[in-house]
Amino acid sequence: MDLIEKDKELEQIINYYKEMGLPLDQPTIIELLREIQELYDCVPFPIQEKICNELEISKAIISIIMKRFPSLKESSYKHRILVCKGSSCGSKKSGELLAILEKKLNIRAGETTSDGKFYLNTQYCFKACGKGPNVMIDDRLFHHVTIEQLEQLLQKYD
Ligand code: FES
Repeated sequence: MDLIEKDKELEQIINYYKEMGLPLDQPTIIELLREIQELYDCVPFPIQEKICNELEISKAIISIIMKRFPSLKESSYKHRILVCKGSSCGSKKSGELLAILEKKLNIRAGETTSDGKFYLNTQYCFKACGKGPNVMIDDRLFHHVTIEQLEQLLQKYD
């Protein structure tokens, strides 16, 4: 399953729990975190933020549960950057954006920076080809990304 498919599955999971009625009780939140971990092999920080926002869960509760249940693994990165490597974005120099990110962050695609701030990877097409090159940071998609904008984004998310 690629990352886009995983994110779609995540939306379905979130909707399922939303329909249960909010606020969720603690055992249900634990169940939700376990499902997320099954999907991503961990519970990445940006996804913790997403479920806090969408399911009205406080960050403190998530943090307590994550500490209390060592089987739940928090990903070591804070922000996930995905550069589109689809053919349309590729023709608009997304490869150059990736190379700059690899250089600036001193990592290769698929790796996390040593300070744990950024995880970098590629994605094949975000289905927004007309607006490329596209770069996704956490769950926000940025269109027509330029080298200058990339610098600003890195500072913003730093
Ligand atoms: S090729 Fe980049 S969004 Fe489709």
